[in-house]
Amino acid sequence: MHIIFQVLTKQIQDAINASFPKAALNARKEGSFLNPQLVQASKPEFGDFQMNGALTLSKILKKPPREIAEIIVIQLKKNKDFNNICLAPEIAGPGFINLTIKNSCLKKELTSRLNDDLLGVPQAKDEEENKQLKPIIVDFSSPNIAKEMHVGHLRSTIIGDSIARILKFRGHQVLRLNHVGDWGTQFGMLITHLKNVAPEALTTANFVNLGDLVDFYRQAKKNFDEDQYFQKCSREEVVKLQQGNQESIKAWKLLCNQSRNAFQKIYNRLDIKLDERGESFYNPFLKDVIDELSKLGLLIKDNGAQCVFLNEIKGKDGNPLGIIVQKSDGGFNYATTDLAAIRYRLNDLPNGDGAGRIIYVTDAGQSNHFASVFQVAKLANWIPKDCKVEHVPFGLVQGEDGKKLKTRSGETIRLKDLLDEAIDRAKIDIERRLKEEGRKESLDFIEKVSSTIGISAVKYADLSQNRITNYQFSFDRMLSLQGNTAPYLLYALVRIAGINRKGGEIKNFNNKLDFNNEQEWKLAREILKFDEVILEVEEQLLPNRLCNYLFELSQAFNRFYDHIPILKASEPSKSSRLVLCRLTEKTLKKGLNLLGISTLERM
Ligand code: ARG
Repeated sequence: MHIIFQVLTKQIQDAINASFPKAALNARKEGSFLNPQLVQASKPEFGDFQMNGALTLSKILKKPPREIAEIIVIQLKKNKDFNNICLAPEIAGPGFINLTIKNSCLKKELTSRLNDDLLGVPQAKDEEENKQLKPIIVDFSSPNIAKEMHVGHLRSTIIGDSIARILKFRGHQVLRLNHVGDWGTQFGMLITHLKNVAPEALTTANFVNLGDLVDFYRQAKKNFDEDQYFQKCSREEVVKLQQGNQESIKAWKLLCNQSRNAFQKIYNRLDIKLDERGESFYNPFLKDVIDELSKLGLLIKDNGAQCVFLNEIKGKDGNPLGIIVQKSDGGFNYATTDLAAIRYRLNDLPNGDGAGRIIYVTDAGQSNHFASVFQVAKLANWIPKDCKVEHVPFGLVQGEDGKKLKTRSGETIRLKDLLDEAIDRAKIDIERRLKEEGRKESLDFIEKVSSTIGISAVKYADLSQNRITNYQFSFDRMLSLQGNTAPYLLYALVRIAGINRKGGEIKNFNNKLDFNNEQEWKLAREILKFDEVILEVEEQLLPNRLCNYLFELSQAFNRFYDHIPILKASEPSKSSRLVLCRLTEKTLKKGLNLLGISTLERM
């Protein structure tokens, strides 16, 4: 109902301006306006929308808010277009104006959605006429070479993917960038270790499997900590790598490739697409960053290191936070790379322009890091006026005991094992259900259903939490058929699709919907909220809003389904109800797809 909302906002604005011309003019002179403050109604009894503006206007106009509301309503009622959309407005409480959309208008909206794959969601590119929309970058997943891709990366991957999907659906050009940690001093020890354990890898053109790179990393680290000679070689190796020594580069590429393959397996299972643009990509620009900051007079030498001190952000001691951009040995760090990256992304993308919005999805532990990077970028004037940079933080993944997620033996959980377990458990559930229902299904069917449910459950459990809070990982909860879970929604969808199949083609539907039941209207209104929810997620980057909506939609559907006959109803009710079923299916499917969740025909 976004379009309706916009039209109403404009109509109310006009009514306010016409009712209080002097105040409107004064406001305009000050560069502001008399804001109607129209919002979604907080309760169904209040109608569809409520206007809260009269309360604020009361201070400006020095009149009681109810009186103001009455004047506005009289003015509104004079507008024929308004009367076509809304029933007579009701004034409630101290001066709220409650608006209820007319059934005829809702019916028109519903019918228009039947053939609209965008389900009423306006396209960003159409909103900004004549203006080339700048692309949006979503920087997510971003694991580190030769290290474990841990649950934190899993969260980033799932949340980032969903945000990227939603923005694309809104009509934005989206770059999904994997800022892989593929550079840094750790490569000195990794290459030295490689030369020790698999020297043939550097001379043969054949593939040499280095085995599990996480173990490889552990071994390298152990040698580094225990063996002085190894340490010396590693330091020299870093220098060689930075100078572009061919053999070192070859070793580095080999390590990156094998890690990349391991990450790719996880991405394939999760159906996630990413473009890798790792830290090494920004190497050529690091020096420019330092030079430019220096020219701007932002650098201060502190204990040999080059730092920027940020008055706007205070460190633990209450003094301006200092961030190191070049270490005393001349080396660069994580922050330097992010500065080079933000500068490049905002100004030098291959499209000749920069991104209009950059979204970084990482754990909340990196909040200070990003706040400082953004602040330095601001001081250096790298952020054009129309661009937005945002850190999208998320909390920790905890076990059911509220502590850091670990295996029973206390090790960190591997993502592969975690996904396997979700699928295994889903499979046990399905086999039990089939047995109970006396159904026989093929092995392929069982495999497909359990893998879809397992993966969806993991994704949905993550997405349905407000990302800011820590979240407790529980297989039992996420796989349950009850509550706000993926299996519940997938099951609801299968049921609705079944009704739709049985309903066949809607024959007697000639754009005339016929509803006379409360549950029908409730479901219709719920369906029509979809566009507004998408716009909200685009703005606030909280996919859990979409999850909640889909859950509410399927609950509204269930109440509808429980209370009134659909297939057994007589015409014209049957066709009208089937339209609601179609739209519910379409909306649920689209919503789940935007969360990165694959749906099933049968379960
Ligand atoms: N590699 C980092 C980590 O594992 C995440 C990188 C996030 N993106 C960025 N531009 N800093 O924590």
